[in-house]
Amino acid sequence: MVKSSTGPDFVVNTSDYVSPELLEAGARVALNKQTLAVMGVLPPSLDPIVVGAEIIEKPDTYYEDIGGLQEQIVEIREAVEDPLLRPELYKRVGIDPPKGVLLVGPPGTGKTLLAKAVAQQTNATFIRFVGSELVQKYIGEGARLVRELFDLARQKAPSIVFIDELDSVGAKRLELATSGDREVQRTLMQILAELDGFNPLGDVKIVGATNRPDILDEALLRPGRFDRIIDIPIPSFDARVEIFGIHTKRMNLDESVNIEDLAGKSEPATGADIKAICTEAGMFAIRENRDVVTMSDLERAISKVLSDSDQRAMESGPMFA
Ligand SMILES: Nc1ncnc2c1ncn2[C@@H]1O[C@H](COP(=O)(O)OP(=O)(O)OP(=O)(O)O)[C@@H](O)[C@H]1O
Ligand SMILES: [Mg+2]
Repeated sequence: MVKSSTGPDFVVNTSDYVSPELLEAGARVALNKQTLAVMGVLPPSLDPIVVGAEIIEKPDTYYEDIGGLQEQIVEIREAVEDPLLRPELYKRVGIDPPKGVLLVGPPGTGKTLLAKAVAQQTNATFIRFVGSELVQKYIGEGARLVRELFDLARQKAPSIVFIDELDSVGAKRLELATSGDREVQRTLMQILAELDGFNPLGDVKIVGATNRPDILDEALLRPGRFDRIIDIPIPSFDARVEIFGIHTKRMNLDESVNIEDLAGKSEPATGADIKAICTEAGMFAIRENRDVVTMSDLERAISKVLSDSDQRAMESGPMFA
């Protein structure tokens, strides 16, 4: 019996040229277009979409590139790095380390950055996939892709599977009205199965990220799955000072620039906003044919970037009729 990539299942014959011992359950086969007879067995291959999932063998992000978040760095190191690098710690005490951690926080606060830094620290392969893409772009294929991504993670272990926008596949299971919902559901079930299916002391670790912890299915948060939640807040004043320091490190700054002042003037900027502010300030300098960035470039950039992000918040915020 063959499941066609277009959906239906067929009961088929096989050509004499195909040796029967190659025909295992789960093999990929080529069919004759007219008779649907199996003409050959194809090599097991990973889907190009899976291979295309952002696989950075070794991301070049370091803990020093992250401003603020000191406690969060400690937490993620305990939950992800130690089990990969020093599993004997857990064996000796006789507990299972957390399988997965969930990073929860507003957009642009450093969740992806943190996941990459851990992967870099552990020399792990970093496999990232985005929840909304699984369910919107690859309709009907979400569950299979999840399975293949985890297979790839096991092949390339040690690895860190990073599921971004987990809320778009992990929303609470409500009354399932549409087939789209059922598709999301299947994808979620596959993620749960993968989470359950491996050894916490193995060398695949899972990091999830979401902006909407409130709508996540409780099944995901059950012990043994994403049982560690790490809150990633909007940066404080001190964190903003650090983040400005990081993003201006390579910039050619005028002596008028005062980082503490900038941090004071940029509440409630996120890390991503601060990065945008630095770029924007550089653009102002280039526009005026200068190769040095001044305090006034940075101040103008702050008002530009923060008013843009207000605008975005208004547009994407709740609508009241
Ligand atoms: N704490 C931080 N320290 C330094 N840079 C930061 C920090 N947070 C964010 N940035 C900058 O902003 C960029 C975007 O951050 P990142 O992709 O980690 O956000 P995110 O939390 O994953 O957001 P989203 O929820 O939208 O995915 C980073 O590449 C980095 O340049
Ligand atoms: Mg992100």
